[in-house]
Amino acid sequence: MEKRTVGILFGGANSEHEVSLMSSTSVLNNIDRDKYDVVMVGITRDGRWFRYTGPVEQIKDSSWEQHPDNLPAFLSPDRGVHGLITLRDGQAETTRLDAVFPVMHGRFAEDGSMQGLLDLAGIPFVGPGVCASALCMDKEYAHIVLEAAGIKTSDWFCVHKDALPPLVDLEVKIAVKLGGFPVFVKPCNAGSSVGVSKVKDSAQLEEAMRLAFQHDSKLLFERAIVGKEVEVAVLGNGQPVASDHLGEIVPKLEFYDYNSKYYDDTADLYIPARVTDEETQLIRETALRAFQALGCKGLSRIDFFLLPDGSCILNELNTLPGFTHISMYPKLFIDSGLSYAGLIDRLITLAIEA
Ligand SMILES: Nc1ncnc2c1ncn2[C@@H]1O[C@H](COP(=O)(O)OP(=O)(O)O)[C@@H](O)[C@H]1O
Ligand SMILES: [Mg+2]
Repeated sequence: MEKRTVGILFGGANSEHEVSLMSSTSVLNNIDRDKYDVVMVGITRDGRWFRYTGPVEQIKDSSWEQHPDNLPAFLSPDRGVHGLITLRDGQAETTRLDAVFPVMHGRFAEDGSMQGLLDLAGIPFVGPGVCASALCMDKEYAHIVLEAAGIKTSDWFCVHKDALPPLVDLEVKIAVKLGGFPVFVKPCNAGSSVGVSKVKDSAQLEEAMRLAFQHDSKLLFERAIVGKEVEVAVLGNGQPVASDHLGEIVPKLEFYDYNSKYYDDTADLYIPARVTDEETQLIRETALRAFQALGCKGLSRIDFFLLPDGSCILNELNTLPGFTHISMYPKLFIDSGLSYAGLIDRLITLAIEA
């Protein structure tokens, strides 16, 4: 079979830059090199693009940025190019790409903007398209679409920086709409728990909002759910499948924060989750409904709370979930019988088929 050329994008100008470095290192170390020629493109924290040809090991610690062979490069929206333009000694070189896997998370990666550029360029890419990516990224719009589809989310409301109600009014809203403290305060557009706080009383409110506003001008307030935190992985286009089992997260601290996700040992993960078969089926089915309601394709990791009465609440859909060797998305499909390399292959094939 003819080899395909796949662009792997890593880094990104967002708060999940480092997570992308870890995810892309795993993808680059596992992608089937007999089947795919890999073109690496790194995006720095300040949004500069480079064609990278150095060792994969230099990605994780950011030292790739200093590599002497780096060349300025960018995806061309010109469909005739169908790929990358690299600048070498003032000359433009073009590299055709059969597909792109943006192994990046969050803003300018998972929010529809990169997908728009790839659409203009006419290049197939891994993950949902512009609209689904944007809807899943913005927690307010995701909640609205989920509600319209009859899928339960936590009780919520949003506030905008430029139309901020006085603190006393906010507290009334928290009491009336969310049943009082504790509540979760989150930036509507972020990820990896960046800017998320659990607020236990009114004294903690302003600090939580200040923190969340560092990442977005719109905040989501949510009722704090007491239940099991479970995740399911979905793969496919028109006929998506859910992983056989769920993953369960048991945070040892207040909640599953950034450090527990990537650095320390403050959360226990269980695959399969310690739930009944009925609960597993409910979550798998609800995840597939949500995937379709939001118009997803390719992949998503869909996160839920499972309540003591056996019902579930959908927390969020991650359209480009963490892909490190310890990440739940690949682990759930490995548990379902795929290999890590097989999963990457499947994702690229789905991108091209779509
Ligand atoms: N409404 C909620 N009730 C209970 N825990 C929550 C709630 N919202 C978020 N959390 C906790 O905070 C973590 C991060 O919140 P999440 O909405 O998933 O943000 P992110 O998009 O940054 O991952 C979750 O994994 C969970 O542990
Ligand atoms: Mg989350």
